[in-house]
Amino acid sequence: MHPLFAVVLLTLHITMATAAQLRPDFYLETCPEAEFIVRDVMKKALIREPRSVASVMRFQFHDCFVNGCDASMLLDDTPTMLGEKEALSNVNSLRSFEVIDGVKEALERACPGVVSCADIIIMAARDAVALTGGPDWEVRLGRLDSLTARQEDSNEIMPSPRSNASLLIDLFGKYNLSVKDLVALSGTHSIGQGRCFSIMYRLYNQSGTGRPDPAIEPKFREKLQKLCPPNVDQNVTGDLDATPRLFDNQYFKDLVAGRGFLNSDQTLFTFTQTRKFVELFSKDETAFFKALVEGMLKMGDLQSNRPGEIRRNCRAVNGRHVNTVWES
Ligand code: HEM
Ligand SMILES: *[C@@H]1O[C@H](CO)[C@@H](O)[C@H](O)[C@H]1NC(C)=O
Ligand SMILES: *[C@@H]1O[C@H](CO)[C@@H](O)[C@H](O)[C@H]1NC(C)=O
Ligand SMILES: *[C@@H]1O[C@H](CO)[C@@H](O)[C@H](O)[C@H]1NC(C)=O
Ligand SMILES: *[C@@H]1O[C@H](CO)[C@@H](O)[C@H](O)[C@H]1NC(C)=O
Repeated sequence: MHPLFAVVLLTLHITMATAAQLRPDFYLETCPEAEFIVRDVMKKALIREPRSVASVMRFQFHDCFVNGCDASMLLDDTPTMLGEKEALSNVNSLRSFEVIDGVKEALERACPGVVSCADIIIMAARDAVALTGGPDWEVRLGRLDSLTARQEDSNEIMPSPRSNASLLIDLFGKYNLSVKDLVALSGTHSIGQGRCFSIMYRLYNQSGTGRPDPAIEPKFREKLQKLCPPNVDQNVTGDLDATPRLFDNQYFKDLVAGRGFLNSDQTLFTFTQTRKFVELFSKDETAFFKALVEGMLKMGDLQSNRPGEIRRNCRAVNGRHVNTVWES
């Protein structure tokens, strides 16, 4: 026998996902301070750049709708994998990934290898709402991070800002999200901004008519046309509602007044099935907050049925941990 030989152990921490039971106290033993750490980083992000918390809250939608809440959307492209970041709804649009990196770094210092990026998105989205004046709630945790991502998956699923309410009702229905859930979740557009890119057609050529969307109130239309003239840099941004730093029911008041930013927003007031909820939420902020929490929890329960891991870095899958054990 050789006096020395190497035993190479490949330790792969990959769990076969069998619809894990999510629960609020998942990190009670392994990382009790997890939720404080996430909220602390989100507070600092809010101070540094108010919009960033809105941008992070949007991640929950773009993550959970594509193969469940598994942080697939956070994976950077690699030479062999075209991920979701460059997908139609995400490219030049999703932003503030560095806030999630900051949360992950803080969590890795406190409890290395324990808290998934998928759970970070869920906690951070909740914190964004709570920190901007919206409701606060208990989230369910215990998700795993995906081992892969596909640009096509996002392209096939994520709705265009041109969508009408009927298409959105069908899409959300596929996830067992009700019409009320759809309207309440759209109410997250109470914070944040959108690009001229997302509204040019409705300002100048709605449905190929050569005219603006008639549902836009004229004064507001003039304002948007001034913000986004025909040859504008389409990265220029406008507020999604009149109080973009406050999580409140102003978004719904704006829709009632024809002052929705996106077509997918205004259409919720145009269609009768969704209008009743827009009207309710515009008058009753408590009803909005209650429905919002229910919708966020339901969307957060969408699970991946694929194997997963706890990523060390939210942007990349873990490398194989190769432990070389020398024996004499
Ligand atoms: C109902 C279908 C939805 C459509 C069609 C839609 C579409 C959009 C679009 C086009 C933008 C602006 C992006 C840009 O112009 O670059 C946006 C922003 C945003 N969306 Fe949605 N969205 C929908 C639902 C949701 C849901 C369910 C959430 C929450 C979980 C959400 C949260 C946000 C937030 C917070 C922003 C602002 C982001 C920022 O300021 O960076 N959206 N959405
Ligand atoms: C918009 O911003 C992205 C980067 O965020 C850039 O690649 C693109 O060229 C910009 N578009 C314009 C018209 O400036
Ligand atoms: C909604 O949009 C879809 C897809 O663009 C379209 O096929 C449908 O006719 C629209 N529905 C209504 C009622 O306008
Ligand atoms: C929606 O609910 C049905 C019936 O309860 C269930 O079979 C289905 O898996 C659910 N779909 C999703 C995406 O949760
Ligand atoms: C408006 O859209 C239609 C169909 O998408 C297109 O054929 C037409 O050229 C557009 N008109 C203008 C003025 O851009």
